[in-house]
Amino acid sequence: MGAGPNLAATVAAIHLTSVVLATAAYLVRAVALRGARTSPAHLAQALAADLWAGLLAFPLYGAGLWRLFGGLEKPLDWYTAHPLFWTKLGLITCLMVLELPVQVALFPLQVAKSRRQPLVLTDARGRLAFGANVAGVALMCALVPVAALMARGVGRGETSRAHGGDACAVEAIFQARCVPCHATGQRLAGLDLVGAPVHSLAGRSSSQWPDEPLVSPGAPEASLLVRKLAGTQGSARGARMPLAGALEPAGVDTVARWVRDGARPCER
Ligand code: HEC
Repeated sequence: MGAGPNLAATVAAIHLTSVVLATAAYLVRAVALRGARTSPAHLAQALAADLWAGLLAFPLYGAGLWRLFGGLEKPLDWYTAHPLFWTKLGLITCLMVLELPVQVALFPLQVAKSRRQPLVLTDARGRLAFGANVAGVALMCALVPVAALMARGVGRGETSRAHGGDACAVEAIFQARCVPCHATGQRLAGLDLVGAPVHSLAGRSSSQWPDEPLVSPGAPEASLLVRKLAGTQGSARGARMPLAGALEPAGVDTVARWVRDGARPCER
């Protein structure tokens, strides 16, 4: 986490607003391209919309990459463990490929326009650009539901609902069993398991044995927190947790499954 919820919301809003505006620019450009081979007015409109689409790519991809790598809301593993994320990435790649014929047609014209040279769009290039642009609009429309479903965790496997609940169950276990030793007042071994959201543990290392990951998303066996709950941490890694009395096996399983599934946030 680290970043506040306001920053996360602002970046998400920038991303979504750019998506809407870029889709509009794409649509205007497609409509204008249809008549651009014969009408200079349509060509001028296509070039203007093209410029807007290009400018909007910066906030769109910038905010998108920030959300992906910045850990604003969800850790990177949350995305890469998500099948729909790869669908989205595939659609974006197709979108970029489809942009090539459009730029082959329009980029030389943008240059010519800035030099006040005459603008000529050949028939072949114009047709290809129009077709690719229309396909691009269709892809952008397909991207919206994919992104919306992804954000809600749809498609994360048949037990996704139960797993979404795992994170919240883990939070409940920590609240019931790890106080008073790992709460804000008494952070033994530097660990606050109650005040901080569970997914903030993802990728953290042990304060006592820095080469040991506490929670390694996807790998419960490599996660010291899970091993200390199961009692398999080994004699050189301190005591079994909770110190006052071990968890019931079902509780250990819940935590292990949550780690295996990517140590996601509890979304109520
Ligand atoms: C009665 C106090 C007590 C309770 C309750 C307790 N712990 Fe601990 N915990 C400790 C102490 C003391 C240490 C440091 C010594 C050690 O690692 O064995 C520790 C260390 C840890 C560590 C290692 C942290 C690091 O950075 O090396 C983890 C992980 C951990 N506890 C998890 C838990 C979890 C999860 C729970 C609740 C399910 C829990 N503990 C409940 C006292 C407690």
